[in-house]
Amino acid sequence: MEWTREMRYRHYGEMTDAEEKDLLEKVNYSIWRQQFHIQPPYGLLNDPNGFAYYQGKYQLFYQWFPFGPVHGMKHWYHVESEDLIYWKDKGLGMAPEYDHESHGIFSGTGIVKDELLYLFYTANKRDEDWNRESAQSLAIMDRNGRIKKKEIPIIPKQPEGYTANFRDPKVWQDKDSDTFYMIVGAERMNHTGCALLYKSEDLLNWHFEGELKTDFEQFGYMWECPDIFQVEGKDVLLFSPQGLEPDGDSYHNVHNSGCFIGYFDKEKHYFQSNFFQELDAGFDFYAPQTTQAPDGRQILIGWMGLPDTSYPTDKDMWANCLTIPRELYIENNKIYQSPVKEMIAKRGSLTEWRGSLNSEETILEDFSDAVYELICDMSVEEGIAGLKLRTGKEEETLFYLDTKRQKIVLDRTKSGAPIAVDYGTVRQTTCTDNKISLRIFVDTSSVEIFVNDGEFVFTARIFPKEESKGIKLFAEDTTASFDIKKWEYIT
Ligand code: FRU
Repeated sequence: MEWTREMRYRHYGEMTDAEEKDLLEKVNYSIWRQQFHIQPPYGLLNDPNGFAYYQGKYQLFYQWFPFGPVHGMKHWYHVESEDLIYWKDKGLGMAPEYDHESHGIFSGTGIVKDELLYLFYTANKRDEDWNRESAQSLAIMDRNGRIKKKEIPIIPKQPEGYTANFRDPKVWQDKDSDTFYMIVGAERMNHTGCALLYKSEDLLNWHFEGELKTDFEQFGYMWECPDIFQVEGKDVLLFSPQGLEPDGDSYHNVHNSGCFIGYFDKEKHYFQSNFFQELDAGFDFYAPQTTQAPDGRQILIGWMGLPDTSYPTDKDMWANCLTIPRELYIENNKIYQSPVKEMIAKRGSLTEWRGSLNSEETILEDFSDAVYELICDMSVEEGIAGLKLRTGKEEETLFYLDTKRQKIVLDRTKSGAPIAVDYGTVRQTTCTDNKISLRIFVDTSSVEIFVNDGEFVFTARIFPKEESKGIKLFAEDTTASFDIKKWEYIT
């Protein structure tokens, strides 16, 4: 089906009952609907937006194109949770209303002030010649959940020297003063990416402070979804640079996300750090956003999907989901991501297996499932050993440790319906241990694998047949021991 501009730039309000019924029917037949991930009712989901703790609940929105599995007129869809795991569907959060946002309301964030939730977003407009115009805008949500937009943008356009690729405001309050800062993703006139810094005393009037200087002047052509926050006293700058070339095991997806850990000098507008850490070693992960929980934890949620990528659910008229929430912490100057502790509440009945394999493969008979959490502690003598998930007649999703090459590897070559195969079907990263611990979350069409308490994470959508539910262990020309616990998931 060809999606013309007219079809892509329709407002949700134009959807007829018949259209909605048709979409819901198609989605209903999809064999790949997730059981415990946030996913759109129909249409396309992308970035998490407006993530904030307000009035005793986590408020979360996501970019949403309602009419089908393509990018077009973006809306904000709203969900809410008290515990980060059970999310209540709040329906449409915000839709385009004004001329300056006639082609969509793009990504942004939320911050609480005076018992109101301030939602900052990018107003996206195309002129008659399809040139982009971007403005940063504000909406305010009150304690009754009513969201009202300001009619006029708070930052009407990008400063001199930057293109109209100027979007995704993130706002935070300085810890030592009443001052608020905003960082916005941008593209310089010479087509290199960066972030711009603004300052405000009241969240309404904003002053352009300048470009945020970093030691990475030439690093992709556009920085999307920047975010600055602190973890254990260190400053972190998270963003999604577009246009990085593959480098060793890194940056193999169409676009990638990662962070600097260092020091943010607000006087000099300088973020000092000499290392960019890719955040996810898997396939489908982009545009993550964080918020601080009331107990101080910094929680990250990402889009489990990628721009410019089609997915097998497109035919069912929906696409993408969000990752499970991850708590961030720092060890050895690296960001670790671990599933939020609340996830434990989803554990149902437990099955266990302990034993060794010597150059063999075994199927865990009682473990077959499509939705579960699995913990696996394994050690390998020398060689390759690991797990095969969602196995069926011809399908398997492989995760293994190769001690000779010192790699951990996720291979979705035979996971089921193909996804973005031009970008490869195998991802790996260096791991020097011969003993690893894995915490794996499997949903109907995804795996999230946390290695060594979140030192590495591999996120991937997979689209196996419904009956491919086997779990196997294997050791190739070596001896390996496994200690496995698997919980059914209460959804
Ligand atoms: C990232 C992104 C953002 C933009 C939004 C539009 O995926 O391109 O930069 O605000 O998606 O949906």
